[in-house]
Amino acid sequence: MRLLCRLSLMWAVAASASPANAPSPLTWPHLPKYFTLPSLNEQAEIQDAWTKERLNSIPALMRRHNVSAWLISQREYTEDIVFWSLKKATQFSARRQTTDLFLADPKSTEAHHAWISNTADQDLWPELRAILDSEQPETIAINADTGVSFASGLHAGELEAVREGLGEKWSEKLVSVPPMLPIEVIGTMVESKGLWYWKLMSTAWAMISEAFSERVIEPGVTTTTDVEWWLREKLQQMNYTTWFQPSVTIIDGDTKWFAQGVEETTKPRETIMYGDMLHVDFGVTALGMNTDTQHLAYVLYPGETEDDVPAGLTEGLKKGNRVQDIVRENMKVGATGNEILKKCIEQMDAGGISGRVYSHPVGDWGHSAGTPIGFTNLQEGVPVTGDLPLIANTFYSVELAVWHFVPERNATLLFPLEEDVRFDDGWGFNWVYGRQTKFHVIKTPKRNSLQAQGDL
Ligand SMILES: *[C@@H]1O[C@H](CO)[C@@H](O)[C@H](O)[C@H]1NC(C)=O
Ligand SMILES: *[C@@H]1O[C@H](CO)[C@@H](O)[C@H](O)[C@H]1NC(C)=O
Ligand SMILES: *[C@@H]1O[C@H](CO)[C@@H](O)[C@H](O)[C@H]1NC(C)=O
Repeated sequence: MRLLCRLSLMWAVAASASPANAPSPLTWPHLPKYFTLPSLNEQAEIQDAWTKERLNSIPALMRRHNVSAWLISQREYTEDIVFWSLKKATQFSARRQTTDLFLADPKSTEAHHAWISNTADQDLWPELRAILDSEQPETIAINADTGVSFASGLHAGELEAVREGLGEKWSEKLVSVPPMLPIEVIGTMVESKGLWYWKLMSTAWAMISEAFSERVIEPGVTTTTDVEWWLREKLQQMNYTTWFQPSVTIIDGDTKWFAQGVEETTKPRETIMYGDMLHVDFGVTALGMNTDTQHLAYVLYPGETEDDVPAGLTEGLKKGNRVQDIVRENMKVGATGNEILKKCIEQMDAGGISGRVYSHPVGDWGHSAGTPIGFTNLQEGVPVTGDLPLIANTFYSVELAVWHFVPERNATLLFPLEEDVRFDDGWGFNWVYGRQTKFHVIKTPKRNSLQAQGDL
């Protein structure tokens, strides 16, 4: 119920922007809507408001993780990874020596102090030491974890500079940050991001739907690489960017590309033909957020309709949908990625489904901060990060693949799928936009009707 309310609210907002062709997010298939981005100035205002909410949340998160002081320091172009989640939209890098000190429970000062200094001996360090002397934190956390990248952004040289600047007394108090603090700071998606995330996802679906249509693909002529570059050009036209080169693949019985990564094998045949099953892995980037989607398409023979997609392929997609449900339903806040993975694999085994689960947080980064649920090559657990708990109020990409025997092909084919979910309080994780349950189809009119058109 709650979900419906939320979606219908979004729908209302979308509809008021463009009543004629706004999509209903609750039905599929439909034509997903493209959303244009506001002016750069407005985008910066939107992002800065989100960042302000995030900055305000830090002291409470520090108290939750028992961190009394947190020091983040860097030079221009050697930024700590946390910097990118706290910066203003108009900051393109750190400057000089950029240093932030957060206090969980300040007695006589602000919770957040920031310096940009190139005379650190005169301002940064004396001021910072004075704050520490008056606040007396028990420890000072720095981002020097050895296993979690989001908690390990302090550069080696900068650590030496921090030690020198703090002096012996305060250097002794340095401790490595509990990884869950930066993970929660980076991974938590403030409520107000939800509507824009949905718009980005709608746009990603719109791009995929157009790419996987007769508007872009002419069987026998168009190659998978053509479609990949069409997607890049479309992003550029829409003033979006991306965080990885789109990948379009013809799925046949050969799944070496899946095991080893497309780059490392000879790619399967490139020219798209009638009867091909196509796969796309595609993400958009805008407003400091990233999406990650994988869909499947089928190239109809001339004159065929959606009803002519081979039943074996439809069954494979449905099997993938079942695993999507399994993953989404097992995503319980507080459970570790490895616990969730184990449950998913058990349920897949019980259901006789052969496949792999490799889902991950998405948001500020394509592969963002939080516990992963499997890797393509790690189905028994992911070391270190897989043992961290799943956090609330975050976005995930439910990414997986199933194998399914397709009688029409006399072959077992791989069905990789990916859709993003967001956490809804009281409801759990739900599809941000929807999920694919029907093939995108590329249509060609019957040959004689084509000839007839040519004759006209
Ligand atoms: C919190 O951290 C302090 C050191 O800063 C330590 O003495 C204390 O045991 C910690 N408490 C918990 C509950 O981890
Ligand atoms: C992209 O940006 C350019 C330059 O600001 C603008 O003219 C154009 O309308 C934008 N296109 C879209 C689809 O938002
Ligand atoms: C199906 O494939 C198997 C092995 O891949 C082969 O032995 C068999 O003859 C094939 N069946 C048909 C009907 O082509």
